[in-house]
Amino acid sequence: MTSSPLHTAPLQHHQSLFPAQCYLGILLVALLSTICDACSEPPRHETMDLVGSPRPHYNVGERVLYVCKPGYQQRASSTIITTCAANGVWTPLSKDSCTTLFKYKSRKPCPTQSDPVNGQVKLLNGSFEVGSQIQFVCNEGFYLIGRSILKCLRSGSNVYWSSDPPLCEKILCEPPPKIKNGTYSSSDKEVFEYHEIVTYSCDQTSGPDQFSLVGEKQIYCSGNRAWSSEPPQCKVVKCPFPVVENGQQTSGFQKKYAYKAKVMFKCNQGFVLHGNDMIVCDADNTWKPPVPKCLKEPPCPPTSSTKPPNSSKPTTSGVSGALDFQDLNGWIFALTVGVFCNLLELQ
Ligand SMILES: *[C@@H]1O[C@H](CO)[C@@H](O)[C@H](O)[C@H]1NC(C)=O
Ligand SMILES: *[C@@H]1O[C@H](CO)[C@@H](O)[C@H](O)[C@H]1NC(C)=O
Ligand SMILES: *[C@@H]1O[C@H](CO)[C@@H](O)[C@H](O)[C@H]1NC(C)=O
Repeated sequence: MTSSPLHTAPLQHHQSLFPAQCYLGILLVALLSTICDACSEPPRHETMDLVGSPRPHYNVGERVLYVCKPGYQQRASSTIITTCAANGVWTPLSKDSCTTLFKYKSRKPCPTQSDPVNGQVKLLNGSFEVGSQIQFVCNEGFYLIGRSILKCLRSGSNVYWSSDPPLCEKILCEPPPKIKNGTYSSSDKEVFEYHEIVTYSCDQTSGPDQFSLVGEKQIYCSGNRAWSSEPPQCKVVKCPFPVVENGQQTSGFQKKYAYKAKVMFKCNQGFVLHGNDMIVCDADNTWKPPVPKCLKEPPCPPTSSTKPPNSSKPTTSGVSGALDFQDLNGWIFALTVGVFCNLLELQ
């Protein structure tokens, strides 16, 4: 630096006096006008750092040096020196004096992945670039072996996929389970195709009771080595002969009641049905719902032992246990009917 002490003294050590001095003699004004032309702090750059700490003022003709920030490289034939020009402006620096070291390497994508046989590859991030993910899906009737999602990774200057692309294999099923006292269609096949159906049937017996098929009559190959459901069972199902006193059967007349047999009833005149008028023989040899009864008195609604009737609208009060008016009415009704019915049963 070649600036004289006259120039630097007021600038650096007596800044508060500086405006006052500007009003001094013509010589000083002329002198200071060159100082007032000085540059302020040099500009900051995204890609480069100033060498040394910046000062608030620089003299015309002073030069400052920059270095590229870590990860950036100075371009050949580029200069990263700036000079304080006479108008108090730093000579502009080319923005791309420093370029990214990895700029071109990071743009290198992973190798293109094409659709697998019997499947597709989906670009989750729209490209095969580093950091993006791709997903493999198999066509209907095929299943994926391997990882479905691959990520493009980088290590140094290498880009690679996080794993090998998966394969799409044809979905096949092994023969479905064999069942006791029954069989299924095409029971001699070794391999079943996707969505292929097998139908089970029960063996015929020479005895008095035939087997009933309980469960799904048909199942299908729904996935690789997977059937849509458990196979059915062949069971002898016998429900007891349903007897309703003071009532009569109206349909489903049979000598024996096997699985899924359906029977309907009605009560004789003067009697009221308690229960369901239609019952079905279930796999556990019982009627569902239970055989109804025909009684003189009307059936009772649920009494105090059960929950209060549900309110049709949600309670507006946030306080738990608060009853709204509808709840209260329901309670009163249930209790009244309950007491009335209990009195009747006591007679
Ligand atoms: C790529 O897409 C996936 C799924 O939409 C998302 O979770 C992930 O953040 C994305 N990755 C990038 C680098 O954008
Ligand atoms: C039903 O299967 C069992 C076991 O396989 C067998 O012992 C029995 O004889 C079969 N019953 C009839 C009636 O076929
Ligand atoms: C009453 O509400 C309970 C729980 O919200 C529900 O499980 C039940 O089915 C409801 N009963 C009636 C009769 O609406």
